[in-house]
Amino acid sequence: MINIAIDGPVGAGKSTVARECAKRLGIIYVDTGAMYRSCALFCIRSNVEISPENEAEIEKLLNERMKLEITLVDGTQHVILNGEDVSEAIRENSVSMAASAVSALASVRKFLLDRQRDLAASNSVIMDGRDIGTVILPDADLKIFITAAPEVRARRRYEELKAKGSEITFDEVLADVNKRDYNDTHRKESPLMQAPDAVLLDTSELDFTQTVEKVIGLVNGLGKL
Ligand code: DC
Repeated sequence: MINIAIDGPVGAGKSTVARECAKRLGIIYVDTGAMYRSCALFCIRSNVEISPENEAEIEKLLNERMKLEITLVDGTQHVILNGEDVSEAIRENSVSMAASAVSALASVRKFLLDRQRDLAASNSVIMDGRDIGTVILPDADLKIFITAAPEVRARRRYEELKAKGSEITFDEVLADVNKRDYNDTHRKESPLMQAPDAVLLDTSELDFTQTVEKVIGLVNGLGKL
């Protein structure tokens, strides 16, 4: 069994890199951001405004009415919300900001904590998020903090949205990235930060293949797989 924790800010390339590494290593990729996104989508669909004032209502909503299943289809994680596959719906831009807001609530983090730990306890995983190395898997075999300059991250996200036909401008994407960075690093509950024992990987000057090779190199260095 091996547990690899990948943390870092939005657009650093965590998920694409983690997914490819999981495939090559023959282990499971767990995208914890998708779980926060699902909670946010459920709040939106339930017409509950995501704010600290509504935390008790949100906690009740999630505990009593939300059934979240994580399944693997051909090695790809799918999230099933009350029986519906929402893997596409949670990627919408409006859900991104809502996910950042919902993830600041302690009760939501608590709601997801055991699910994330259980997945890692029963499988070899590469799990990505914001607090995996610091809170969820403090004893992970390997922790990597992937980052890149905000402009580089915004450019990647902009290209991705453009390719999907979005009309958004680069400046809007950069403002979103900066706002989510601020939210994720300044919240009280499990803020985004590099664990003291995490390896820092700055991908500003690295392409996808180079980043994957670096991560695979670090995993192979453990001599566990
Ligand atoms: O990685 P992502 O963009 O899909 O994550 C969506 C939001 O969820 C992000 O703004 C921060 C939050 N998140 C978190 O707080 N902790 C995690 N482990 C994963 C995501």
